[in-house]
Amino acid sequence: MSMKTVTITVNGKLVRATEGEYLLKVLRREGIDVPALCQHDAVEPYGGCRVCMVEITKAEWNGWSDMVTSCLYPVADGLIVQTHSNQVIELRKTIIDLMLARNPHTPLIQQLAADYGINSTSFQPVPEPNDCILCGICTRICDTMGFHAISTVNRGHGREIAPPLGEAPESCVGCLACALNCPTNYIKFTDSGKTRTIWKKQFEMVTDKRTGAPTITREFAEYLIAHRNIPADYFDLNDESHRKETATNMGAIAAWSREDLK
Ligand code: SF4
Ligand code: SF4
Ligand code: FES
Repeated sequence: MSMKTVTITVNGKLVRATEGEYLLKVLRREGIDVPALCQHDAVEPYGGCRVCMVEITKAEWNGWSDMVTSCLYPVADGLIVQTHSNQVIELRKTIIDLMLARNPHTPLIQQLAADYGINSTSFQPVPEPNDCILCGICTRICDTMGFHAISTVNRGHGREIAPPLGEAPESCVGCLACALNCPTNYIKFTDSGKTRTIWKKQFEMVTDKRTGAPTITREFAEYLIAHRNIPADYFDLNDESHRKETATNMGAIAAWSREDLK
């Protein structure tokens, strides 16, 4: 299928893009700084945080304009975009102000607020704030991998990310993709000896056969072997041992090559 190139105007500058690609991607490529808290390259966008809002219009819209979430908006020829118009800035500030009420102590939100000149929220702060910004990156990553172990639960101030019924989730394999991609490091886990704990679930770790160091959880290794065609013995070594083995093999190959050249 051929990809059609279109021309759009961003902040007065003509920009080439591929028809249908998401506007935020184009803006990023152009080096334009638009905040985007729920965007993650590994998962489809879902328009949750709304800080990536921009103003769009077209010549034929007769001066009418609209505000759209750029992470979800597919570009088309002739699109005219303003990323920092007064209307955009005011809307973005209101959204950030609301976020600051929910996450007053979260460095990522504090920094964003400071960038937009907001020192404190003008809304009623939530009673028990935490660092979850409800970006949904963790749940979407877990869903994308097919585990569906966590989801957004409750409503209003009480909305949070949790496993079903708050119990250790049966389908969680302890891969840590949720925790390691959380933009605020809100998801806690511990690796202690040969045991990993996340979402109240304990996992036995596979260990490196040379060093005894933990590699990944047994459940995650079994998943990768069964569904990603990774050879079972791959998990006998951790990354460092794999690198050492490769280096050793490269040394042997180099020695053989020298012998061949004699
Ligand atoms: S650690 Fe569990 S909850 Fe987190 S992404 Fe992996 S499977 Fe999902
Ligand atoms: S736990 Fe982290 S990744 Fe998940 S929604 Fe909250 S801030 Fe986002
Ligand atoms: S990044 Fe677009 S809505 Fe969050």
